[in-house]
Amino acid sequence: MKQLIAANWKMHGETHWAQKASQLAQILTSGTQKRADLLICPPAFLIPAMAEAAKDTPIMIGAQNCHDQTGGAYTGEMSAAMCGDAGASYVILGHSERREYNAESSAHVQAKARAAHQAGLVSIICIGEKLSQREEGKAEEVTASQLHASLPESATAINTVIAYEPIWAIGTGKVPSEPDIAAIHAHLRKELAERLGEKTAKGIALLYGGSVKPANAAQILALPNVDGALVGGASLEMDSFIEIANAARAV
Ligand code: PGA
Repeated sequence: MKQLIAANWKMHGETHWAQKASQLAQILTSGTQKRADLLICPPAFLIPAMAEAAKDTPIMIGAQNCHDQTGGAYTGEMSAAMCGDAGASYVILGHSERREYNAESSAHVQAKARAAHQAGLVSIICIGEKLSQREEGKAEEVTASQLHASLPESATAINTVIAYEPIWAIGTGKVPSEPDIAAIHAHLRKELAERLGEKTAKGIALLYGGSVKPANAAQILALPNVDGALVGGASLEMDSFIEIANAARAV
C-alpha cells in the first residue's frame, strides 16, 4: 500500500489558504505521487474551495470532525454526509484535542466513525496515550483499549485508517523513540488482526502522528507497520509538508 501523508490544519486557515492545494499540486513531483497519497484536512469552511482547487490533482481533502447523527437539531454541527457533499473524502475522528476539549469518549468516536462509513467517508481514528500512562508502562494497553472501543463493526481496510498519536508528542517537538513507535504499531496491527482478521488488519493504514517534521519524517516513515503520518504544525507550510511526503517509503 502507498503511504498516506495527511495534513491536520486544526483551527488554522483563512479563505485564501484554499490556494495551498493548487500550490501543493504544482510542487508535487511524480516520485512523490507514486510513493504517497496526500490528504489535507482544513477547517470545515475551507473544504469546498480546497476540493475545487484540488480537482484533477492527486490531493484529497478531508474534514476534522463530523456528527454521529445524519441530521437534525444539532446547532453548530456537521453530518458526515455534509462533509462528503462539501468535497471531503476522509474525516479525522477522536483527535486527542477533541477527546480533551470536547469530552469525546471512545464510544462517541465509534458512533461518529459508523456515521462516516455510512456516508462513504474514510475515518481516520486517532488514539494515543498520555505521558503519565507511557511512564507507567501502559502505552500498549491504553492504545489497544482505545482502538477497540473506537472502532465500529463497519470498519474495513477501505474505510478505516488508524492514527497513533501519543498526546505528549503532539505540538511539543518530542517524539517517541523509533523502537517505541514500532512496538506500538506492531501491537495495534496484532489487535486489529484479532478483531478483524489478518487480511483486513494488513490493509488498514496505521499512521504515526506527533511532531512529525521534515527532519524526522524519513526515519519514522521507514519503520515497520508505519503506513504514513498525520502532520499538524509542519503541514501548514506546503514546502515542509511536501518534504515530509518526499520522505515516504517507496512502494
Ligand atoms: P503536530 O500535530 O504535528 O503539530 O504535533 C499532530 C496532530 O495533532 O495531528
